[in-house]
Amino acid sequence: MKRALITGVTGQDGSFLAELLLEKGYDVHGTIRRSSVDFRERIAHLEGHSNFHLHYADLGDSMSIIQVVKKVAPDEIYNLAAQSHVQVSFDSPEFTCDVDATGVLRVLEAVRQCDLQDKCRIYQASTSELYGKVEEVPQNENTPFHPYSPYAVAKQYGFWIVKEYREAYGMFCCSGILFNHESERRGETFVTRKITLAAARIAQGKQDKLYLGNLGSLRDWGYAKDYVECMWLILQNDKPEDFVIATGEQHSVREFCQLAFRRVGIELRFEGEGEDEKGIDTATGKVLVEVSPDFYRPTDVVNLWGDPTKARKELGWNPQKTSFEQLVNLMVDADMAKVAAERASEHVKMNLAEYLEKGIVK
Ligand code: NAP
Ligand code: GDD
Repeated sequence: MKRALITGVTGQDGSFLAELLLEKGYDVHGTIRRSSVDFRERIAHLEGHSNFHLHYADLGDSMSIIQVVKKVAPDEIYNLAAQSHVQVSFDSPEFTCDVDATGVLRVLEAVRQCDLQDKCRIYQASTSELYGKVEEVPQNENTPFHPYSPYAVAKQYGFWIVKEYREAYGMFCCSGILFNHESERRGETFVTRKITLAAARIAQGKQDKLYLGNLGSLRDWGYAKDYVECMWLILQNDKPEDFVIATGEQHSVREFCQLAFRRVGIELRFEGEGEDEKGIDTATGKVLVEVSPDFYRPTDVVNLWGDPTKARKELGWNPQKTSFEQLVNLMVDADMAKVAAERASEHVKMNLAEYLEKGIVK
């Protein structure tokens, strides 16, 4: 039985990857961080599985990483842990650097110090943000990097240190340069999930308006569940190499909004420009989407579009497994169900309060 260690197992990708590896018969170990609230929603369904184990470790703490690597002695490490929010990286640049840059070095060194460098394969969660202020469209493995946020600069160090350890020590370590991938488990402050949740809340009368930043920003959005399969394929390859993982299709934030609202039965028309642009419900004339400069970034990456040819040819990976429309729909449907469930439980609580007051329930 192969043993895998996933850092960041509580995240969107970590949870899907843990499921995939369990299905493949791996013994799966994940790292978690101590928190004042015990809230591991994405992996709650896996806890208790006999091949699923959790360990405390923090990418900012090399002792904890060495300890977990030594204890697990993994065949494969998937280093997914990161401060992954680009806008937050402008507010916490030093923390982002420590976790997203030096953290990668700590993982690589832990493997060497535990004498596992010839046995353990390492996947590093790299990112299309490396292309940043893009120098070529679409972007492939040979496109020059131009990182454009503290997050991207930190991730660029991660990318190069992985390459360095591969060349210097002959380690099997690779980076997946993944373009944006989303799902019903996506964090609620990333733009896609913010939109699908808002569309569901607006449709069910729980929210009036959605405030967004740059509506014209372009992304190559895929489905996270399809992308974790590629992480695994990269480590099963004959040679340690880096791969671009993307769908090869590009859409704007505005288009994402229109599709998401359409799924809940609202047709949006956009009018105006820049900060004055508005998304209007064509049936009622109500303004449902407005621009707020609060969501602008000091430097914003606006033109990401990946070329997944290498992954398709060399790994046999299908970049078009889930279409853009399917992705939007599955996210909206999940949020419609989530909001409906919240409303139902509010209703039960309200009824209970009323019944208690009236003495119907004691
Ligand atoms: P995510 O949902 O934000 O998950 C991040 C994970 O990292 C969480 O488990 C988090 O733990 C953990 N983490 C954060 N700081 C840590 C620390 N100091 N020590 C240990 N663990 C820490 O991110 P994701 O979307 O799954 O992305 C996974 C990885 O892929 C990240 O490295 C991200 O930068 C990269 N990436 C993502 C995308 C994308 O579109 N999703 C694209 C390219 C690259 P808590 O739950 O305790 O916070
Ligand atoms: N978050 C957010 N919130 N973004 C907004 C908003 C808003 O209200 N309005 C517009 N945007 C724009 C951002 O300016 C950005 O250009 C784009 O939408 C996407 O933003 P995010 O969803 O926050 O993702 P990201 O592309 O910055 O970063 C994600 O993808 C990277 C891969 O390219 C993260 O998952 C990173 O960890 C990942 O590396």
